[in-house]
Amino acid sequence: MKLLVATHNRGKLREFQEIFHDLPFELLTLDDVGIREDVAETGATLEENARLKANAYVRASGLLTLADDSGLEVDALNGEPGVYSKRYAGEGKSDAERNAHLLEKLRNVPQAKRTARFRCVIAIADAHGNVQTTEGTCNGKIAFESRGTNGFGYDPIFIVDGSTRHLAEFSSAEKNKISHRGRAAVKAREILREQFIAQKN
Ligand code: IMP
Repeated sequence: MKLLVATHNRGKLREFQEIFHDLPFELLTLDDVGIREDVAETGATLEENARLKANAYVRASGLLTLADDSGLEVDALNGEPGVYSKRYAGEGKSDAERNAHLLEKLRNVPQAKRTARFRCVIAIADAHGNVQTTEGTCNGKIAFESRGTNGFGYDPIFIVDGSTRHLAEFSSAEKNKISHRGRAAVKAREILREQFIAQKN
């Protein structure tokens, strides 16, 4: 059985492969199935964007499709950058520039008020047009400086709740266990297992 993972990112594909390793799916990326066009992420929420992508790509491919959308919500900024995490501080900026921009915005915010969370929504769309979503969060605080070289995005400035380490100091296996995407994917695995695996006998 084939499962299209709506991404061009092979790192993300590997994360899902690890979490779904015991399911009988062959995971394919958009590149693997020859889809080049990106769906515009015009939704106002992570859930809307995940649904938009899953719907568009199931139609384009005819394959069971999983799409995800994630973002960082900072309480002192009323949930920003949220759904705009990828484009925060302007198009074409680097992760380091986005992190510097966020640290500058929070310059006068004390430690106790720097609470934040990564949130991920996964949408699974089948060829009949049914869509189901799961959600995962990873709670923490925004640090005062960057630390660590693993991961990507806002990982260097995110201190994980219950730890003194920044997320960029976690190995990828450690991150998968506690991350928003890992948690949403574990819930998605249950949907795949219960509803989309052909029952023998
Ligand atoms: P995406 O929807 O997974 O592509 O995530 C959108 C944006 O949210 C990324 O470009 C990052 O800026 C941020 N983001 C999502 N997940 C993570 C993460 O695990 N670590 C750090 N930043 C993340």
